[in-house]
Amino acid sequence: MDYHIENIFPTPIYYSFLEENLFLKIQSEIERYLLTNKFDEKNASTYYITTETFKEDIIREQNFYNLEQELDKHIKNYCKEINFEYKNYNRQSWITLLQQGQRIDSHNHGYVHMSGVYYYSGSQDTAKLIFQTPVPSARSSICYYNSHYHWSHPAIPGKILLFPGWLTHGVWFNDSLDSRISLAFNITFYD
Ligand SMILES: [Fe+2]
Repeated sequence: MDYHIENIFPTPIYYSFLEENLFLKIQSEIERYLLTNKFDEKNASTYYITTETFKEDIIREQNFYNLEQELDKHIKNYCKEINFEYKNYNRQSWITLLQQGQRIDSHNHGYVHMSGVYYYSGSQDTAKLIFQTPVPSARSSICYYNSHYHWSHPAIPGKILLFPGWLTHGVWFNDSLDSRISLAFNITFYD
């Protein structure tokens, strides 16, 4: 018997963990910034963030050289896996802080081609990143019900995630006393 399955409309999510040596270098780059900069409480809604416009690129502005080089390698890996020919890109990036009780409501990053995040600090058990299904109608059938559930990723220091900019996501409440700090970015490839 010959048969085939066509996994159409996939939602590829990329993740990886930094190796120890690189992890320490990148953590110290971000720590240097955090020690000398405070989050603007004016910008706080249900979380703190270093940008109001999402036009800045904190990676370039703060010369996070090791992080920039490493992210680029992962973006190349991801492009290969999704059969997209890597090319130069424009980038925006920012840092987000969630203290105890804070959260990020569901949203997507609109027209950008690719989004991602690097976790500086966080916990296995709380304030997980939640991806919503892009196939909400799957709920109507018990055969495909698993496609209806959300998918979560814990914010583990040293973890890198890449995902489609159009994918709706948010962050559950931070139940921990520990701060959850992440550096997120948007990628728009040049034509
Ligand atoms: Fe986001």
